[in-house]
Amino acid sequence: MRSLIDITDFSVEEVNELLDTACDIVANPEKYSEACKGKKLATLFFEPSTRTRLSFTAAMMELGGNVLGFDSASNTSASKGESVYDTAKMVSCYADIIAMRHPKEGAPYVAARSASIPVINAGDGGHCHPTQTLADLLTIYRELGRLENLTVGFCGDLKYGRTVHSLISALARYKNVKIVLISPEELALPKYVKYEVMEKNGMDYVETTSLEDSMPELDVLYMTRIQQERFDNFDEYERLKDSYVLDVDKMKLAKEKMLVLHPLPRVNEISVKVDADPRAGYFRQALNAKYVRMALIMKLLKEAAEGRQMPEPVDVVFDELHCDNPRCITSTEQEIVHTFKCVSPENGVYRCIYCEAKKIKN
Ligand code: CP
Repeated sequence: MRSLIDITDFSVEEVNELLDTACDIVANPEKYSEACKGKKLATLFFEPSTRTRLSFTAAMMELGGNVLGFDSASNTSASKGESVYDTAKMVSCYADIIAMRHPKEGAPYVAARSASIPVINAGDGGHCHPTQTLADLLTIYRELGRLENLTVGFCGDLKYGRTVHSLISALARYKNVKIVLISPEELALPKYVKYEVMEKNGMDYVETTSLEDSMPELDVLYMTRIQQERFDNFDEYERLKDSYVLDVDKMKLAKEKMLVLHPLPRVNEISVKVDADPRAGYFRQALNAKYVRMALIMKLLKEAAEGRQMPEPVDVVFDELHCDNPRCITSTEQEIVHTFKCVSPENGVYRCIYCEAKKIKN
């Protein structure tokens, strides 16, 4: 079935249609109150969540549907060793659509290959978070009235910040979007996003360690939490955790209409005093997530009813290369065939189709 694993699974036209539907839901909620009557959403959350799980739940309820699922792996048969592959196949017997969050990169893709119902990636490790991207785009669109001609600053943990990777991939498809990457060197954006998303799409970008210097030119500032749970070394987390704190003084450096976003949860990177600033959009962003998830659930259920399938991966090699990324789903699901897609034939560069780890093959 057609699923949403990576934001680029949808064309830019499809993304824009979802945003339009979400705006219509905001204006006419009663029109959609029975749109998913009799349908069931399974929320399979193997990793903690507040916003994503609850907004998916609220979204399905406001569409007149029902929700089942779990919010931790510990009470499921995953704790006895059941695979993601089997879990998704089995849940297809009980529900019409799945929203899955998992600490292993590529887990929702494995689920989508085995399930007979649509699967939505609700965040896979440090990899991507496409439905957060839909919420981010809807918020920028509703607040600034455009997704083109923007300068967007990303600040904090750009290495593990999956929401950053997905949003940059989405923005790469809109005209004249400049990206300012603000992070400590240790938490810089992964090279695959830099080279294979931004440079391949001709995006203008700069890298800096200074938030203050960047503030005056930004239309959007996307703050992120330093992701403690992804660090192998706790001392390094302690050293980096307060690298950037947005406060009232720094907001004085920003444009009058600059929009501050954050996927949340925040820890210490935005002072609560900034919440009173009308430019602080992060709680409105969390509300927009519900509307755009409603639009997404409707779209995927409609396409499932029409029998629309996921495309097969192209330019791939099976079992010739081995993924060594310990955060990849291939590290725990032994029966998965290691599969790599060619991203640069001239240089022999391949990437794991689950986690995007790089390999060179001559
Ligand atoms: N933005 C986001 O994914 O929040 P949760 O982790 O609370 O779901």
